[in-house]
Amino acid sequence: MSLESRVLTGYIPKHIAIIMDGNGRWAKKRNLPRTFGHKKGSENLKNITSVCNEIGIKALSVYAFSTENWKRPKEEIDYLMDLPSEFEETFKGKFKEEDIRVIFSGRRDRFPVKVQELINRVEEKTKDRQGLILNICFDYGSYTEILEGVKAISESYKKGEIKLEDINEDLMNSHLYTKELPKLDLLIRTSGEERISNFLLWQLAYSELFFAKKHWPAFNRKELFKALDNFQKRNRRFGGLKGDKK
Ligand code: FPP
Repeated sequence: MSLESRVLTGYIPKHIAIIMDGNGRWAKKRNLPRTFGHKKGSENLKNITSVCNEIGIKALSVYAFSTENWKRPKEEIDYLMDLPSEFEETFKGKFKEEDIRVIFSGRRDRFPVKVQELINRVEEKTKDRQGLILNICFDYGSYTEILEGVKAISESYKKGEIKLEDINEDLMNSHLYTKELPKLDLLIRTSGEERISNFLLWQLAYSELFFAKKHWPAFNRKELFKALDNFQKRNRRFGGLKGDKK
C-alpha cells in the first residue's frame, strides 16, 4: 500500500499547525535573495492548504509573521507585508472553488492600513465557507494572545459579570484567537529547528510535535504525508494510560 493510501485509511488530524521555517536558508542555498524564499514559501502554503483540505483536515494554523519579526530589515518586512495581497490575488478563485475559509490571528493595530483592510475583507468574504479553515497567524505571539485573554477575563470579573469559579479552561479557550477551531492535534516545524518560538503555547498542551528537516519551500505533499504517517503511529494518551481513547 502506498504511503498516501495508508495515511488516508488512518486517523486524519482535525487541526494541524505549521511553523513555516527556513525560507531564507532555502533561498541562500540557491544564491537567491531571502525574499524569493518567502515567495516560494507563500506558493507552498497555497499547495499545502489545498492538500490539507482535500484529505479532510478541518483547520490549518500557520505562523506567517511573529510579534518579534518586526526586528527584521525594513526591506524584508515590506516584502512580507505584501504577501497577503499577492496571496489573495493568486488564490481567490481556487480557494472559492475549494470552499476554504481564511481567518487571521494576531495583533492588527501595527499593520499598514491596506493590510488591515485586506484582513477584514478576506475574513468577511470567506466567513460562510464550509471547507478547511486556514488560520494565518500574522503579527502573532502566544504571550500577547494569552495576556489579551487574561485581561479580558479580568475585566469581566471586575465588572461582576463572572465569578472566580467561572475562570476555567473553557473560558480561557473562548478568549483565544483559535476559539472556533478544533483542538490542535499536531504541530509541524520545518527546517530542522526544534523550538516552539512563542507559537500556540496554550493550544499545544497535548499536541504531537513533528520536526521536519526540509526547509518550508521544499515541504511538499509527500513530506506532509510522511509527517501524518508518523503522527498516526503515535499513541496519544492525554495523560491517561496506554490504550485510552480520546
Ligand atoms: C520563516 O523563514 C518564514 C517567515 C518569517 C515568513 C513565512 C511566510 C510565508 C511562508 C508566507 C505567508 C503568507 C501569507 C499569506 C502571509 P525564515 O525567514 O526565518 O528563514 P530562515 O530561518 O532560513 O532565515
